[in-house]
Amino acid sequence: MPGWGTLPGVPIVRAATTGDLDAVVALWDRAAGPTRHAGRHDEAGRLLARDPGALLVAVDDETIVGTLIVGWDGWRAHLYRLAVAPEARRRGVARRLVDAAGRRATDLGAVRVDAMVHAGNDGAIGFWRAAGFSVEGDDRRWSLVPGAAAPPSTSAANR
Ligand SMILES: CC(C)(COP(=O)(O)OP(=O)(O)OC[C@H]1O[C@@H](n2cnc3c(N)ncnc32)[C@H](O)[C@@H]1OP(=O)(O)O)[C@@H](O)C(=O)NCCC(=O)NCCS
Repeated sequence: MPGWGTLPGVPIVRAATTGDLDAVVALWDRAAGPTRHAGRHDEAGRLLARDPGALLVAVDDETIVGTLIVGWDGWRAHLYRLAVAPEARRRGVARRLVDAAGRRATDLGAVRVDAMVHAGNDGAIGFWRAAGFSVEGDDRRWSLVPGAAAPPSTSAANR
């Protein structure tokens, strides 16, 4: 009897291997949505080396049609790089990826699962809402590029 994942049009979700990375990066290049940085092969390789279960792929008939990274900080799981091939959208692929991420998060002991969502990405917002996620209070993402010049101190100017 064929396995559940071998049904036509029903992708399986599994952890990515290094052999998947060319296809993963190609998918990110064309389907990542609004992002400053779509993600590279060497970066994904470092992720797999450090945390082999963190990159999930949805595979339909041997083609990678979706990805999701499940990060873990010991308390929360953090979801990144949810991307589904345009021709595979609205077939529940992202939902399967997020369900699998939820199982991984539960296995790890996560008490919360967070997702990074661009405020202008209406399609993604529709998806995350449908998946049961909601916007978190007043939290904003704060970032620094390591090694970049620090802005001039304002305290000296105010003396
Ligand atoms: C957002 C994205 C991942 C959704 O993937 P998907 O596989 O098409 O989503 P699903 O089929 O699992 O959708 C499940 C439900 O989410 C909601 N949903 C999905 N896409 C939506 C959209 N574009 N607009 C509004 N709601 C949407 C719907 O309720 C949908 O159920 P329905 O199809 O029965 O109406 C996909 O559109 C994508 O890859 N976009 C580009 C990359 C991106 O923006 N990623 C998100 C980064 S945070």
